[in-house]
Amino acid sequence: PFEKLKDGLLSAPSSKESKDTAVFNVNESESTVSITVVGASGDLAKKKIFPALFALFYEDCLPKHFTIYGYARSKMTDAELRDMVSKTLTCRIDKRENCGEKMDQFLQRCFYHSGQYDSQDHFAELDKKLKEHEAGRVPNRLFYLSIPPNIFIDAVCCASSSASSGNGWTRVIVEKPFGRDSESSATLTSALKQYLEEDQIFRIDHYLGKELVENLSVLRFSNLIFEPLWSRQYIRNVQFIFSEDFGTEGRGGYFDNYGIIRDIMQNHLLQILALFAMETPVSLDAEDIRNEKVLIVLAWCQVKVLRSMRPLQLENVVTGQYKSHVRGGITYPAYTDDKTVPKDSLTPTFAAAALFIDNARWDGVPFLMKAGKALHNKRAEIRVQFRHVPGNLYRSIGTDLDRATNELVIRVQPDEAIVLKINNKVPGLGMRLDRSNLNLHYAARYSKEIPDAYERLLLDAIEGERRLFIRSDELDAAWALFTPLLKEIEEKKVIPEYYPYGSRGPVGAHYLAARYKVRWG
Ligand code: NDP
Ligand code: BG6
Repeated sequence: PFEKLKDGLLSAPSSKESKDTAVFNVNESESTVSITVVGASGDLAKKKIFPALFALFYEDCLPKHFTIYGYARSKMTDAELRDMVSKTLTCRIDKRENCGEKMDQFLQRCFYHSGQYDSQDHFAELDKKLKEHEAGRVPNRLFYLSIPPNIFIDAVCCASSSASSGNGWTRVIVEKPFGRDSESSATLTSALKQYLEEDQIFRIDHYLGKELVENLSVLRFSNLIFEPLWSRQYIRNVQFIFSEDFGTEGRGGYFDNYGIIRDIMQNHLLQILALFAMETPVSLDAEDIRNEKVLIVLAWCQVKVLRSMRPLQLENVVTGQYKSHVRGGITYPAYTDDKTVPKDSLTPTFAAAALFIDNARWDGVPFLMKAGKALHNKRAEIRVQFRHVPGNLYRSIGTDLDRATNELVIRVQPDEAIVLKINNKVPGLGMRLDRSNLNLHYAARYSKEIPDAYERLLLDAIEGERRLFIRSDELDAAWALFTPLLKEIEEKKVIPEYYPYGSRGPVGAHYLAARYKVRWG
């Protein structure tokens, strides 16, 4: 079943898990996987985790023997959990097909156990129930911590002491936030490592599971026309843009303690940047992808990029916060209108930053990041602006420098696409140039719906494939880059630039880009 989805890209087991993973792969009929969603009553479980598990089941990608347990404090019976889960499932994979039968089969494999997150006894009860389902097969266990971070350690302590697998593997998926600075992240990591080995910890960054982020390496390393251009010699600047057209409504309590830099930049955008800027791994040949050594090199390169990044300066950062705005008779709220947010909060809901990588490949190239809530549109994009053609014969015919340069746009979402902007002759007897798009529009090119990031990541965790999860040294490097900046912003009580809900964000972001001769795409 794995080959079906992953084209045979099964991971090689890592040293600590080699025995157990081998048991799982070689003798699948004799093993079983129990997936426990800790915090099953919550938003993420309903919105993403159960639907992703169902999609994997629908695609025959879950192992033959598997059981799903919801675990949370809320009182619920198995039937009530199934009822709750059934409301979240859709037949999105093939909308024409009635997948009701598959849904019923899936729901029959879902169970619920109510317990406290800090109770060894309650996890021991769960263990007992899991054993009944495992029916003597080699038990592999995956715990998904879909709970607030302040209870991660309690849950990991109890799950590992009272409900870990005896002779199979035990893995734990940890959701962000992984701390809020270097210190708290290190504390969390060392607390987790009291109970788990690093190779049992799967730190999720769901942006790494997005189709176009996965495709970034393929685009770069398997097309001769891109990799030779991937350096300061040909690239003028790179932009990583995240924008949402809604505010933090409903999540203000969480958000106010983190802000947009921690919520989006330090993880999602930085991970994409690292993938974009890393050195060439030894090989990305299909055969070699099976080789874990290459995957390690890949991850190592990524960390190397993070380490060679110049510390972020406050002068290279603009922060903003959305304010109330009336449009078309509708009043859109300010960030501080949320009852869970203090009225005088200075937490940024928008940030733009210019980063530099001090290595031979990227010396002097501005990497610009922009992330914001309550902006005019929803999109996540990578934009690569190339240098102008030296001595361009047609330059006088174009109107300005920007028109004359190429741009590669990788639209991660929505409406996934890869667009290359080129200069082209306008057909006709005269000689006039315009900028046209070579457009790979996924919806037009591929009929199959793109899997949700959580599907890919859950499947990888079940397979023991770590390539898309964050290693602890990567996490340390990411925090080392952002912590001094975050401390400075908070100590100096930097006042964010206020921007209207639904606007393009603070004008300061344009001045920042202009300082490096960049225009946001
Ligand atoms: P929720 O706030 O919905 O919490 C999940 C469950 O944890 C709740 O249903 C509740 O279950 C239990 N819980 C909540 N607060 C407490 C508390 N103070 N003490 C003990 N138990 C508590 O979280 P989400 O589902 O939104 O998110 C889960 C994790 O995923 C978090 O770490 C979050 O940061 C992260 N995340 C969430 C995203 C999202 O879109 N929701 C996106 C990215 C990451 P019960 O009362 O039944 O025990
Ligand atoms: C989460 C952030 O990690 O990603 C949210 O905490 C954000 O604030 C979300 O809304 C965006 O994810 P996606 O997949 O909807 O773009």
